[in-house]
Amino acid sequence: SLHSYHVSEDLGFILPDPLEDLPPHYQPWLDIALRIPELVHSHELRARVDKMPLLSTSFLCKHKELRLAHLALSMMTMGYVWQEGENNMVEKLPSSLAVPFWEVSQRLGLPPILTHASAVLANWKKKDPEGPFDMENLELLVSLPGGESVRGFFLATLLVELAAVPAIRSIPSVINGIRCGDTDAVVRALEDISLSIQDMNDALKLMQVHVDPSVFYGIMRIYLSGWKDNPCMPKGLVYEGVHTKPMEFSGGSAAQSSLLHCFDELLGVKHEEKGRSFLTRMRDYMPPAHRQLIQDISSQPSLRSFVQQHQANDQLNQAYEFCVSKLLALRNYHINVVSRFITVPAARARQLRNHSQDSEGETVIKAPKALEERGTGGSGIMTFLKTVRDETKDALLTEP
Ligand code: ALA
Repeated sequence: SLHSYHVSEDLGFILPDPLEDLPPHYQPWLDIALRIPELVHSHELRARVDKMPLLSTSFLCKHKELRLAHLALSMMTMGYVWQEGENNMVEKLPSSLAVPFWEVSQRLGLPPILTHASAVLANWKKKDPEGPFDMENLELLVSLPGGESVRGFFLATLLVELAAVPAIRSIPSVINGIRCGDTDAVVRALEDISLSIQDMNDALKLMQVHVDPSVFYGIMRIYLSGWKDNPCMPKGLVYEGVHTKPMEFSGGSAAQSSLLHCFDELLGVKHEEKGRSFLTRMRDYMPPAHRQLIQDISSQPSLRSFVQQHQANDQLNQAYEFCVSKLLALRNYHINVVSRFITVPAARARQLRNHSQDSEGETVIKAPKALEERGTGGSGIMTFLKTVRDETKDALLTEP
């Protein structure tokens, strides 16, 4: 059952009802974590973290305590590393932050850096507990510089995860249908998945309403970026008290969401080597149970072959084609979002730098140069997304 993969019937990969508080012993962490935007703004965060006591992680017991600890420590880490932008970089994370972050990460099977699993899946609460799970009634637990755009970015992403829940729930029905040769059951499940992917697309549109491209590009984006494949931190980061050598970890990426990995494995979308190695690496940035679900979907009998074996069944063929075409449309829309939030502001920043006299007061010009062509996860973002989009097209049985 999905339950054994830590996937909830109602919320899918989203962590149900995340804790909002840690045991009192950990107050020194939350005192800083809940004030990251203002402490970064006043350039005090590093000094505050340097003075933080080194706390034992042994009083953290429950899964949800560990998830909140990982969220708080990862946001503090991003604020610490990027407090001064691309200038005045640090080479090490102090042991008061590095040691507990490392231990909590080891226990969760997550890397010691901000990930989708923490920043999105475990970073929400309802304002009115009885109210709906929607943009108006949701709040972040821990935030980063960038104000309302940070909230909009993480919550729109969370609502995409929510929209995908019916699709995730239907995956076992597809697999069972194939096993029993029940084509009608497979058709019904594929139709549910198609509708759900359409809903993901609609949820992603909230990004345009709630995120300001110049704030996203110029202020918040650097805090999502990591220390692997980042020209600005070529050696990585020393986690003091953990290892003496620097370590490299990728920044946040939508590829850390398990959703599209599940759909690709189910529908038989194949990726060529370069994109595949990035996508495979991103699976190590997911909770291990979610990674296992993707793995187990991939080892099932092929849906695509099943559909091809039933060539005469128009309903089945159409349901499969429709599903792949919805995934294709979602990836096209994602490219559109990236061009609005990254490509266009990057061009604007370049233009302003070349005519510096009219650059006063612009936000985008302060954006990190290292991220102009790259995603915060380190991929060559547009080339990567277009390749993956084209590979989705290749799964179609007939020419579009
Ligand atoms: N991966 C997204 C970016 O590159 C968040 O900005």
